Amino acid sequence: MQATKKELIYEGKGKKMWSINESDDLLISEFKDSLTAFNGVKKAEESGKGALNCKISTLIFDLLKKHGIATALVETISPTEQLVKKCKIFPLEIIARNIATGSLTKRLGIKEGTKLPFTLVEFCYKDDELGDPILNDEHCLLLGAVKSQSELDELKKIARKINGILIKFFDERNLKLVDFKIELGRDKDGNILLADEISPDSCRFWDKQTDKKLDKDVFRQDLGSVKVAYEEVLRRILG
Ligand code: C5P
Repeated sequence: MQATKKELIYEGKGKKMWSINESDDLLISEFKDSLTAFNGVKKAEESGKGALNCKISTLIFDLLKKHGIATALVETISPTEQLVKKCKIFPLEIIARNIATGSLTKRLGIKEGTKLPFTLVEFCYKDDELGDPILNDEHCLLLGAVKSQSELDELKKIARKINGILIKFFDERNLKLVDFKIELGRDKDGNILLADEISPDSCRFWDKQTDKKLDKDVFRQDLGSVKVAYEEVLRRILG
């Protein structure tokens, strides 16, 4: 579909969102080359990173669509731009974890690399000033991030379903899906859609044999070239 940018309505750390002339229900989501970590404290630019994430996220969303996950992605219209359905995003980072690392090891002292006995789903409140604090179910209700426990349970169910699909997909490509973050929203008809992106910026991928990190931890921990790592993830997705 033809879409021309009208107005920049939001600029976040990784993306710009544009309204378009042709429809009030659709937006253009533009992937940026900027890399940020530790709540924006560490910053860099990596030319081509936005295009890599746009491509990887498109392939993952297409896979999830085939498995019955409703997504906000309508069409990828350029190497760094997607046409997406407008939706009201729950103010939550929804995190699913299969292996302990990152903030989980810091918070609970579980040894790095421990396979969790079940997939842990966590919620963080999307609020940079507060540092995206972790929330329990009652906090989510108290803050009005969801309307009810059953709505929260629905979000957990979607996160677990996505995890099941992606774990198998990446296992077949010699990658461990360690953890990932998703964002969900409701469209104007009330459907819950997978929004934002799923990419090495928002997931952790470890090589199955060597545990080599192929995600944003390469940037967070200065482990080498981010682009080389993300290109490797794309190469494996394409098979
Ligand atoms: O840092 P932490 O261990 O809590 O991250 C869990 C997962 O969520 C990681 O895959 C990380 O990349 C992702 N995440 C994210 N955006 C954030 C926080 C975490 O994509 N603001």
